[in-house]
Amino acid sequence: MKGIVLAGGTGSRLYPLTLATSKQLLAVYDKPMLYYPLSVLMLAGIRDILIISNPDVVPQMRHLLGDGSRLGLNVSYAEQKEPRGIAEAFLIGASHIGHDRSALILGDNLFHGAGFYSLLQREARSGNGCTLFGYSVSDPERYGIAETDADGQLISISEKPLRPRSNQAITGLYFYDNDVVSIAAELRPSDRGELEITDVHQEYLRQRRAALVPLSRGYTWMDCGTHASLLAASQYVQVIQERQGVRVACLEEIALRMGFIDAETCYELGASMRQSDYGRYLTEIAFAHDEGRWKDC
Ligand code: G1P
Repeated sequence: MKGIVLAGGTGSRLYPLTLATSKQLLAVYDKPMLYYPLSVLMLAGIRDILIISNPDVVPQMRHLLGDGSRLGLNVSYAEQKEPRGIAEAFLIGASHIGHDRSALILGDNLFHGAGFYSLLQREARSGNGCTLFGYSVSDPERYGIAETDADGQLISISEKPLRPRSNQAITGLYFYDNDVVSIAAELRPSDRGELEITDVHQEYLRQRRAALVPLSRGYTWMDCGTHASLLAASQYVQVIQERQGVRVACLEEIALRMGFIDAETCYELGASMRQSDYGRYLTEIAFAHDEGRWKDC
């Protein structure tokens, strides 16, 4: 399965924070926002990852992550020249996807919760159609919204409806079979001039090949698209990390846990940042791993 992080857009809802940098490079507490969606793809077992961003931001992202090899990943980059919609990711990423299945995650989405790893592993294996992840929210008019029947089958999807039929938001994580590339190629721009991700899902739904996996209240899902939600995400990560002593979306730790890198590499990565708590944490978990002690992440 191939992964795509869509990290484009102008970030205009975050002005002036994003006048000179990209939203996805802003801090969510102790790490760049981009780490959070990347961590999800890694936990799903995905190592081939395409990051799509604005032309002026791609060099900064490349500076941050390089070719991904230090994390045992294969990271490549592509440009989205104008904000032409989420579904354009499948056109830009068509050669990256090739004949494979794919997972798309939006660059400002944060997921966290016990059991998320197992859920991702399970859903990444199931093959047909598209899988969406639903999350109950108090402000459904801000999101894509899913309506399900009594059996949990998806019956309608609507983008930012004025009168939402449910409070199940469709999160910014999506798994697809290979048909997503041809479905996206057939799309026409919406009234606001974008290739809408909701139109992709409508087509899967029409073919009765769209499934919704509800994320229960035990999970946390946040987007970081406004000043308030960006601060809330930082506070959430700080509270969890300080209380539990384990880090959220620590890419090196996940790479170690997934077997993408060995403990020695993790230690070296930590040592190169030992002036920060983050770096020291990496050296500690590398030791713990070596000694067979393992902190749950
Ligand atoms: C996008 C999608 C929406 C989804 C949301 C999740 O909205 O269009 O369906 O619920 O991401 O973060 P945006 O945040 O780009 O307005």
